[in-house]
Amino acid sequence: MRSAIRATFLHFIDQPDFAANTGYEYYGDGVMVINNGLIEAIGNASEILAHLDSSVTVDSSNVGKLIIPGLIDCHTHFPQIDIVAAYGEQLLDWLNNYTYPAEQRFGESGYGDAVAEKFLREGFRNGTTTAMVYCTVHPESVDAFFSASEKYNCRMIAGKVMMDRNAPEELCDTPEQGYEQSRSLIARWHGKGRLAYAVTPRFAPTSSSEQLTLAGRLLREFPDLYLQTHVSENLAEVAWVKELFPECDSYLQVYERHGLLGERTVLGHGIHLNDKELGLMAACGVSIAFCPTSNLFLGSGLLDVERCESAGVNVCLATDIGAGTSFSMLKTMRAAYEVSQLRGHSIPPLRAFYNATLGNARALKIDHYVGNFDAGKEADFIVLDTEATPLLRYRMGLCNNLQEKLFVMMYLGDDRMVASTHIMGKMVHSSTDNIERRN
Ligand code: GUN
Ligand code: ZN
Repeated sequence: MRSAIRATFLHFIDQPDFAANTGYEYYGDGVMVINNGLIEAIGNASEILAHLDSSVTVDSSNVGKLIIPGLIDCHTHFPQIDIVAAYGEQLLDWLNNYTYPAEQRFGESGYGDAVAEKFLREGFRNGTTTAMVYCTVHPESVDAFFSASEKYNCRMIAGKVMMDRNAPEELCDTPEQGYEQSRSLIARWHGKGRLAYAVTPRFAPTSSSEQLTLAGRLLREFPDLYLQTHVSENLAEVAWVKELFPECDSYLQVYERHGLLGERTVLGHGIHLNDKELGLMAACGVSIAFCPTSNLFLGSGLLDVERCESAGVNVCLATDIGAGTSFSMLKTMRAAYEVSQLRGHSIPPLRAFYNATLGNARALKIDHYVGNFDAGKEADFIVLDTEATPLLRYRMGLCNNLQEKLFVMMYLGDDRMVASTHIMGKMVHSSTDNIERRN
Protein backbone atom coordinates (compact mmCIF):
# COMPACT_ATOMS: atom_id res chain seq x y z
CA MET A 1 0.00 0.00 0.00
CA ARG A 2 2.88 2.43 -0.76
CA SER A 3 2.46 5.36 -3.09
CA ALA A 4 4.31 8.55 -3.89
CA ILE A 5 3.19 11.97 -5.01
CA ARG A 6 5.33 14.56 -6.76
CA ALA A 7 4.53 18.28 -6.38
CA THR A 8 5.67 21.39 -4.49
CA PHE A 9 5.37 20.95 -0.71
CA LEU A 10 5.19 23.34 2.23
CA HIS A 11 4.76 22.37 5.86
CA PHE A 12 5.73 23.70 9.27
CA ILE A 13 7.98 22.03 11.80
CA ASP A 14 7.57 24.80 14.36
CA GLN A 15 6.15 28.28 14.74
CA PRO A 16 7.90 30.21 11.94
CA ASP A 17 10.51 32.77 12.81
CA PHE A 18 10.45 35.42 10.10
CA ALA A 19 13.77 37.05 10.85
CA ALA A 20 15.62 33.74 10.90
CA ASN A 21 13.43 32.29 8.14
CA THR A 22 12.99 29.02 10.05
CA GLY A 23 10.12 26.83 11.19
CA TYR A 24 9.08 25.49 7.80
CA GLU A 25 10.24 23.18 5.02
CA TYR A 26 9.64 23.93 1.37
CA TYR A 27 10.37 21.57 -1.51
CA GLY A 28 9.95 23.23 -4.91
CA ASP A 29 10.20 19.83 -6.61
CA GLY A 30 9.34 17.38 -3.87
CA VAL A 31 8.07 13.85 -3.36
CA MET A 32 6.04 12.53 -0.44
CA VAL A 33 5.87 8.78 0.12
CA ILE A 34 2.74 7.41 1.77
CA ASN A 35 2.51 3.96 3.30
CA ASN A 36 -0.84 2.66 4.49
CA GLY A 37 -2.25 6.16 4.99
CA LEU A 38 0.80 7.39 6.91
CA ILE A 39 3.66 9.57 5.72
CA GLU A 40 6.81 7.57 5.23
CA ALA A 41 9.11 10.24 3.83
CA ILE A 42 9.18 13.69 2.27
CA GLY A 43 12.03 15.52 0.56
CA ASN A 44 13.49 16.79 -2.66
CA ALA A 45 12.41 14.66 -5.60
CA SER A 46 15.98 13.92 -6.65
CA GLU A 47 16.84 12.46 -3.24
CA ILE A 48 13.62 10.55 -2.59
CA LEU A 49 13.36 9.10 -6.09
CA ALA A 50 16.97 7.89 -5.98
CA HIS A 51 16.10 5.60 -3.06
CA LEU A 52 12.51 4.70 -3.90
CA ASP A 53 11.66 1.09 -4.64
CA SER A 54 10.90 0.90 -8.37
CA SER A 55 7.62 -0.92 -7.65
CA VAL A 56 6.15 2.26 -6.08
CA THR A 57 4.22 4.34 -8.60
CA VAL A 58 4.85 8.06 -8.50
CA ASP A 59 1.79 10.22 -9.19
CA SER A 60 3.08 13.20 -11.18
CA SER A 61 -0.33 14.67 -12.02
CA ASN A 62 0.11 17.43 -9.41
CA VAL A 63 3.49 18.73 -10.56
CA GLY A 64 3.18 22.53 -10.56
CA LYS A 65 0.69 22.49 -7.69
CA LEU A 66 1.35 23.16 -4.00
CA ILE A 67 0.60 20.54 -1.34
CA ILE A 68 0.13 21.58 2.29
CA PRO A 69 -1.30 19.73 5.30
CA GLY A 70 -5.09 19.58 5.59
CA LEU A 71 -6.51 22.67 7.26
CA ILE A 72 -7.80 22.44 10.83
CA ASP A 73 -10.79 24.37 12.18
CA CYS A 74 -10.80 24.73 15.99
CA HIS A 75 -14.43 25.77 16.56
CA THR A 76 -17.49 25.20 14.41
CA HIS A 77 -21.13 24.03 14.63
CA PHE A 78 -22.17 21.45 12.05
CA PRO A 79 -25.98 21.98 12.48
CA GLN A 80 -25.53 25.67 11.77
CA ILE A 81 -24.73 25.10 8.10
CA ASP A 82 -28.53 25.49 7.96
CA ILE A 83 -28.33 29.15 9.05
CA VAL A 84 -25.07 30.36 7.59
CA ALA A 85 -25.75 33.84 6.18
CA ALA A 86 -29.02 34.42 8.05
CA TYR A 87 -29.55 38.17 8.15
CA GLY A 88 -29.05 40.48 11.05
CA GLU A 89 -28.90 40.60 14.84
CA GLN A 90 -26.24 40.30 17.51
CA LEU A 91 -25.43 37.19 19.51
CA LEU A 92 -28.36 36.75 21.92
CA ASP A 93 -31.10 37.64 19.41
CA TRP A 94 -29.34 35.62 16.72
CA LEU A 95 -29.39 32.57 19.02
CA ASN A 96 -33.08 32.99 19.80
CA ASN A 97 -34.28 33.85 16.31
CA TYR A 98 -32.13 31.65 14.08
CA THR A 99 -29.94 29.20 15.94
CA TYR A 100 -32.36 27.58 18.35
CA PRO A 101 -35.15 27.13 15.78
CA ALA A 102 -32.66 25.56 13.36
CA GLU A 103 -31.15 23.25 15.97
CA GLN A 104 -34.60 21.92 16.91
CA ARG A 105 -34.82 20.07 13.60
CA PHE A 106 -32.00 17.77 14.70
CA GLY A 107 -34.44 16.03 17.02
CA GLU A 108 -36.20 14.67 13.89
CA SER A 109 -35.12 11.17 13.06
CA GLY A 110 -32.46 11.07 10.32
CA TYR A 111 -32.30 14.83 9.82
CA GLY A 112 -28.75 15.18 11.12
CA ASP A 113 -27.35 12.46 8.85
CA ALA A 114 -27.73 14.39 5.61
CA VAL A 115 -26.60 17.65 7.20
CA ALA A 116 -23.47 16.05 8.67
CA GLU A 117 -22.60 14.70 5.23
CA LYS A 118 -23.14 18.12 3.64
CA PHE A 119 -21.05 19.81 6.34
CA LEU A 120 -18.09 17.45 5.93
CA ARG A 121 -18.15 17.71 2.15
CA GLU A 122 -18.26 21.50 2.31
CA GLY A 123 -15.25 21.35 4.60
CA PHE A 124 -13.37 19.08 2.16
CA ARG A 125 -14.18 21.43 -0.72
CA ASN A 126 -12.49 24.15 1.29
CA GLY A 127 -9.51 22.04 2.30
CA THR A 128 -10.55 21.38 5.92
CA THR A 129 -9.80 17.84 7.09
CA THR A 130 -10.15 18.17 10.87
CA ALA A 131 -12.42 20.25 13.12
CA MET A 132 -13.62 20.67 16.68
CA VAL A 133 -17.38 20.60 16.34
CA TYR A 134 -20.54 21.37 18.30
CA CYS A 135 -23.51 19.13 17.57
CA THR A 136 -26.93 19.88 19.10
CA VAL A 137 -28.48 18.84 22.40
CA HIS A 138 -29.80 15.68 20.70
CA PRO A 139 -27.52 12.63 21.08
CA GLU A 140 -28.66 11.56 17.57
CA SER A 141 -26.89 14.61 16.15
CA VAL A 142 -23.61 13.37 17.62
CA ASP A 143 -24.18 9.90 16.21
CA ALA A 144 -24.89 11.50 12.83
CA PHE A 145 -21.73 13.57 12.88
CA PHE A 146 -19.40 10.83 14.09
CA SER A 147 -20.92 8.25 11.72
CA ALA A 148 -20.29 10.53 8.73
CA SER A 149 -16.76 11.30 9.96
CA GLU A 150 -16.07 7.60 10.44
CA LYS A 151 -17.17 6.92 6.87
CA TYR A 152 -14.47 9.29 5.55
CA ASN A 153 -12.04 8.25 8.30
CA CYS A 154 -11.36 11.87 9.17
CA ARG A 155 -9.92 13.08 12.47
CA MET A 156 -12.73 14.91 14.27
CA ILE A 157 -13.50 16.12 17.77
CA ALA A 158 -17.17 16.71 18.64
CA GLY A 159 -19.74 16.62 21.39
CA LYS A 160 -23.37 16.93 22.40
CA VAL A 161 -24.39 20.42 23.46
CA MET A 162 -25.46 20.48 27.10
CA MET A 163 -28.01 23.15 28.02
CA ASP A 164 -30.64 23.03 30.72
CA ARG A 165 -32.00 26.58 30.92
CA ASN A 166 -32.65 29.86 29.08
CA ALA A 167 -33.39 28.08 25.81
CA PRO A 168 -36.56 26.61 24.24
CA GLU A 169 -37.86 23.63 26.20
CA GLU A 170 -37.42 21.32 23.21
CA LEU A 171 -33.69 22.07 23.26
CA CYS A 172 -33.10 21.64 26.97
CA ASP A 173 -31.78 18.58 28.74
CA THR A 174 -31.46 18.27 32.52
CA PRO A 175 -28.14 18.10 34.37
CA GLU A 176 -28.57 14.33 34.75
CA GLN A 177 -29.64 13.74 31.13
CA GLY A 178 -26.77 15.90 29.89
CA TYR A 179 -24.36 13.84 31.95
CA GLU A 180 -25.78 10.40 31.10
CA GLN A 181 -26.21 11.12 27.39
CA SER A 182 -22.67 12.49 27.16
CA ARG A 183 -21.38 9.46 29.01
CA SER A 184 -22.94 6.98 26.63
CA LEU A 185 -21.74 8.99 23.61
CA ILE A 186 -18.23 8.92 25.10
CA ALA A 187 -18.47 5.15 25.46
CA ARG A 188 -19.65 4.85 21.85
CA TRP A 189 -17.30 7.27 20.10
CA HIS A 190 -14.36 8.55 22.11
CA GLY A 191 -11.15 6.99 20.82
CA LYS A 192 -12.95 5.07 18.08
CA GLY A 193 -10.63 5.30 15.08
CA ARG A 194 -9.75 8.95 14.62
CA LEU A 195 -12.64 10.34 16.67
CA ALA A 196 -12.52 12.09 20.03
CA TYR A 197 -15.19 13.50 22.32
CA ALA A 198 -15.53 17.05 23.64
CA VAL A 199 -17.74 17.80 26.65
CA THR A 200 -19.80 20.69 25.29
CA PRO A 201 -21.80 22.91 27.64
CA ARG A 202 -23.04 25.58 25.20
CA PHE A 203 -22.09 28.57 27.41
CA ALA A 204 -22.64 29.74 30.97
CA PRO A 205 -26.07 31.36 30.35
CA THR A 206 -27.65 28.09 29.19
CA SER A 207 -26.20 25.77 31.83
CA SER A 208 -27.08 25.72 35.52
CA SER A 209 -24.33 25.36 38.07
CA GLU A 210 -25.48 21.73 38.55
CA GLN A 211 -24.96 21.02 34.87
CA LEU A 212 -21.53 22.65 34.79
CA THR A 213 -20.56 20.60 37.85
CA LEU A 214 -21.48 17.39 36.03
CA ALA A 215 -19.54 18.55 32.96
CA GLY A 216 -16.52 18.93 35.25
CA ARG A 217 -17.16 15.46 36.63
CA LEU A 218 -16.98 13.97 33.13
CA LEU A 219 -13.58 15.62 32.65
CA ARG A 220 -12.31 14.14 35.89
CA GLU A 221 -13.65 10.70 35.01
CA PHE A 222 -12.13 10.73 31.51
CA PRO A 223 -9.00 12.92 31.58
CA ASP A 224 -8.34 12.72 27.85
CA LEU A 225 -11.67 14.28 26.89
CA TYR A 226 -11.83 17.81 25.50
CA LEU A 227 -13.96 20.66 26.76
CA GLN A 228 -15.39 23.25 24.42
CA THR A 229 -17.65 26.19 25.20
CA HIS A 230 -18.02 29.91 24.53
CA VAL A 231 -16.76 32.80 26.63
CA SER A 232 -16.96 36.58 26.60
CA GLU A 233 -18.09 36.97 23.02
CA ASN A 234 -20.60 39.79 23.37
CA LEU A 235 -21.03 42.55 25.97
CA ALA A 236 -24.71 41.78 26.65
CA GLU A 237 -23.74 38.13 27.20
CA VAL A 238 -20.99 39.15 29.65
CA ALA A 239 -23.49 41.30 31.63
CA TRP A 240 -25.98 38.41 31.69
CA VAL A 241 -23.41 35.99 33.08
CA LYS A 242 -22.67 38.49 35.84
CA GLU A 243 -26.37 38.43 36.80
CA LEU A 244 -26.63 34.64 36.58
CA PHE A 245 -23.46 33.92 38.57
CA PRO A 246 -23.17 36.86 41.02
CA GLU A 247 -20.82 34.85 43.23
CA CYS A 248 -18.16 34.75 40.48
CA ASP A 249 -15.68 37.57 39.90
CA SER A 250 -15.65 37.11 36.17
CA TYR A 251 -17.10 35.12 33.30
CA LEU A 252 -14.05 32.86 33.14
CA GLN A 253 -14.26 32.16 36.85
CA VAL A 254 -17.62 30.45 36.26
CA TYR A 255 -15.80 27.81 34.23
CA GLU A 256 -12.86 27.66 36.62
CA ARG A 257 -15.11 27.03 39.63
CA HIS A 258 -16.71 24.09 37.86
CA GLY A 259 -13.37 22.50 36.94
CA LEU A 260 -13.64 23.13 33.22
CA LEU A 261 -10.29 24.79 32.49
CA GLY A 262 -7.30 22.76 31.32
CA GLU A 263 -4.96 22.14 28.43
CA ARG A 264 -7.66 20.34 26.48
CA THR A 265 -10.11 23.23 26.85
CA VAL A 266 -10.88 25.42 23.83
CA LEU A 267 -12.99 28.51 24.48
CA GLY A 268 -14.65 30.27 21.56
CA HIS A 269 -14.22 34.04 21.11
CA GLY A 270 -12.85 35.51 24.40
CA ILE A 271 -13.01 39.01 22.96
CA HIS A 272 -13.90 40.89 26.14
CA LEU A 273 -11.77 39.07 28.72
CA ASN A 274 -9.97 41.23 31.28
CA ASP A 275 -6.27 40.92 32.14
CA LYS A 276 -6.97 38.72 35.14
CA GLU A 277 -9.00 36.33 33.02
CA LEU A 278 -6.24 36.17 30.42
CA GLY A 279 -3.75 35.39 33.18
CA LEU A 280 -5.98 32.56 34.42
CA MET A 281 -6.34 31.20 30.90
CA ALA A 282 -2.58 31.22 30.42
CA ALA A 283 -2.00 29.51 33.78
CA CYS A 284 -4.49 26.76 32.89
CA GLY A 285 -3.18 26.25 29.33
CA VAL A 286 -6.59 27.01 27.79
CA SER A 287 -6.73 28.05 24.11
CA ILE A 288 -8.94 30.80 22.70
CA ALA A 289 -10.53 30.01 19.35
CA PHE A 290 -10.37 33.21 17.33
CA CYS A 291 -13.42 33.29 15.04
CA PRO A 292 -12.92 36.47 13.02
CA THR A 293 -15.68 36.12 10.40
CA SER A 294 -18.19 35.30 13.14
CA ASN A 295 -17.05 38.17 15.36
CA LEU A 296 -17.47 40.57 12.46
CA PHE A 297 -20.79 39.09 11.35
CA LEU A 298 -22.41 39.34 14.79
CA GLY A 299 -20.69 42.65 15.54
CA SER A 300 -19.17 41.02 18.63
CA GLY A 301 -15.85 42.87 18.56
CA LEU A 302 -12.22 42.73 17.48
CA LEU A 303 -10.10 40.15 19.32
CA ASP A 304 -6.69 41.56 20.19
CA VAL A 305 -4.56 38.53 19.36
CA GLU A 306 -1.32 40.27 20.28
CA ARG A 307 -2.69 41.12 23.75
CA CYS A 308 -3.77 37.51 24.32
CA GLU A 309 -0.43 36.11 23.17
CA SER A 310 1.53 38.62 25.23
CA ALA A 311 -0.43 37.37 28.25
CA GLY A 312 0.73 33.84 27.41
CA VAL A 313 -2.61 32.63 26.01
CA ASN A 314 -2.55 30.33 23.02
CA VAL A 315 -4.82 31.57 20.21
CA CYS A 316 -6.08 29.16 17.56
CA LEU A 317 -8.15 29.90 14.49
CA ALA A 318 -11.70 28.88 13.63
CA THR A 319 -14.62 29.46 11.27
CA ASP A 320 -17.50 29.21 13.80
CA ILE A 321 -20.05 28.26 11.16
CA GLY A 322 -22.87 29.42 11.11
CA ALA A 323 -22.23 32.81 12.78
CA GLY A 324 -18.99 32.52 10.84
CA THR A 325 -19.63 33.31 7.21
CA SER A 326 -17.21 31.00 5.44
CA PHE A 327 -16.09 27.38 5.56
CA SER A 328 -12.79 28.49 4.10
CA MET A 329 -9.86 28.68 6.50
CA LEU A 330 -8.16 30.82 3.83
CA LYS A 331 -10.93 33.39 4.12
CA THR A 332 -10.74 33.03 7.90
CA MET A 333 -6.99 33.77 7.79
CA ARG A 334 -7.81 36.84 5.72
CA ALA A 335 -10.41 38.04 8.25
CA ALA A 336 -7.94 37.39 11.10
CA TYR A 337 -5.41 39.52 9.29
CA GLU A 338 -7.89 42.37 8.85
CA VAL A 339 -9.14 42.29 12.45
CA SER A 340 -5.53 42.34 13.63
CA GLN A 341 -4.79 45.26 11.32
CA LEU A 342 -7.55 47.19 13.09
CA ARG A 343 -5.81 46.32 16.36
CA GLY A 344 -2.51 47.67 14.98
CA HIS A 345 -0.78 44.35 14.23
CA SER A 346 -0.10 42.44 11.02
CA ILE A 347 -0.10 38.63 10.91
CA PRO A 348 2.71 37.49 8.58
CA PRO A 349 1.49 34.99 5.95
CA LEU A 350 3.86 32.22 7.08
CA ARG A 351 2.34 32.56 10.54
CA ALA A 352 -1.19 32.43 9.14
CA PHE A 353 -0.50 29.16 7.30
CA TYR A 354 1.21 27.77 10.41
CA ASN A 355 -1.85 28.71 12.49
CA ALA A 356 -4.26 26.87 10.20
CA THR A 357 -2.13 23.70 10.17
CA LEU A 358 0.45 22.83 12.86
CA GLY A 359 -0.63 25.66 15.19
CA ASN A 360 -4.23 24.47 15.31
CA ALA A 361 -3.09 20.83 15.61
CA ARG A 362 -1.04 21.83 18.66
CA ALA A 363 -3.99 23.68 20.19
CA LEU A 364 -6.10 20.53 19.82
CA LYS A 365 -3.27 18.29 21.10
CA ILE A 366 -3.31 16.23 17.92
CA ASP A 367 0.02 17.39 16.51
CA HIS A 368 1.50 13.92 17.01
CA TYR A 369 -1.03 12.73 14.40
CA VAL A 370 -1.56 15.61 11.96
CA GLY A 371 -0.56 19.22 11.23
CA ASN A 372 2.57 18.59 9.18
CA PHE A 373 4.32 15.99 7.02
CA ASP A 374 6.75 14.50 9.52
CA ALA A 375 7.35 10.78 8.97
CA GLY A 376 4.75 8.69 10.79
CA LYS A 377 1.98 11.30 10.67
CA GLU A 378 -1.37 10.69 9.06
CA ALA A 379 -1.43 11.71 5.40
CA ASP A 380 -4.13 14.39 5.47
CA PHE A 381 -3.23 16.92 2.81
CA ILE A 382 -4.62 19.30 0.22
CA VAL A 383 -3.49 20.09 -3.30
CA LEU A 384 -3.66 23.79 -4.12
CA ASP A 385 -3.89 25.10 -7.65
CA THR A 386 -2.33 28.51 -7.23
CA GLU A 387 -3.40 29.42 -10.77
CA ALA A 388 -7.06 28.55 -10.24
CA THR A 389 -8.36 31.96 -11.29
CA PRO A 390 -7.01 34.49 -13.81
CA LEU A 391 -6.18 37.01 -11.10
CA LEU A 392 -4.44 34.42 -8.92
CA ARG A 393 -2.35 33.27 -11.89
CA TYR A 394 -1.43 36.84 -12.83
CA ARG A 395 -0.65 38.01 -9.31
CA MET A 396 1.31 34.86 -8.39
CA GLY A 397 3.45 35.44 -11.46
CA LEU A 398 4.54 38.79 -10.04
CA CYS A 399 5.63 37.40 -6.65
CA ASN A 400 9.31 37.29 -5.77
CA ASN A 401 9.33 34.94 -2.79
CA LEU A 402 7.35 32.44 -0.75
CA GLN A 403 5.97 34.97 1.74
CA GLU A 404 4.57 37.09 -1.07
CA LYS A 405 3.00 34.04 -2.71
CA LEU A 406 1.39 32.86 0.53
CA PHE A 407 -0.09 36.27 1.15
CA VAL A 408 -1.59 36.39 -2.34
CA MET A 409 -2.96 32.87 -1.81
CA MET A 410 -4.65 33.77 1.45
CA TYR A 411 -6.09 36.94 -0.09
CA LEU A 412 -7.15 35.78 -3.54
CA GLY A 413 -7.61 32.07 -2.83
CA ASP A 414 -10.74 30.24 -1.72
CA ASP A 415 -12.43 26.91 -2.44
CA ARG A 416 -11.57 27.32 -6.14
CA MET A 417 -7.91 26.99 -5.22
CA VAL A 418 -8.44 23.60 -3.53
CA ALA A 419 -7.82 21.14 -6.37
CA SER A 420 -8.20 18.09 -4.15
CA THR A 421 -8.42 16.99 -0.53
CA HIS A 422 -6.94 13.75 0.81
CA ILE A 423 -7.54 11.91 4.05
CA MET A 424 -5.06 9.25 5.14
CA GLY A 425 -3.78 9.40 1.56
CA LYS A 426 -7.23 8.84 0.03
CA MET A 427 -8.86 11.51 -2.12
CA VAL A 428 -12.21 12.68 -0.71
CA HIS A 429 -12.67 15.72 -2.93
CA SER A 430 -11.56 16.74 -6.38
CA SER A 431 -12.50 20.02 -8.05
CA THR A 432 -12.73 18.22 -11.38
CA ASP A 433 -15.20 15.65 -10.14
CA ASN A 434 -18.46 16.58 -11.82
CA ILE A 435 -20.64 14.32 -9.69
CA GLU A 436 -19.49 16.08 -6.58
CA ARG A 437 -20.08 19.54 -8.04
CA ARG A 438 -23.72 18.69 -8.60
CA ASN A 439 -24.21 17.71 -4.93
N1 GUN B 1 -22.68 31.34 22.21
C1 GUN B 1 -23.49 30.35 22.62
N2 GUN B 1 -23.89 29.59 21.59
C2 GUN B 1 -23.32 30.12 20.49
C3 GUN B 1 -23.35 29.77 19.11
O1 GUN B 1 -24.00 28.82 18.68
N3 GUN B 1 -22.63 30.57 18.27
C4 GUN B 1 -21.89 31.63 18.72
N4 GUN B 1 -21.20 32.36 17.84
N5 GUN B 1 -21.84 31.96 20.01
C5 GUN B 1 -22.55 31.22 20.88
ZN1 ZN C 1 -19.52 28.89 18.43
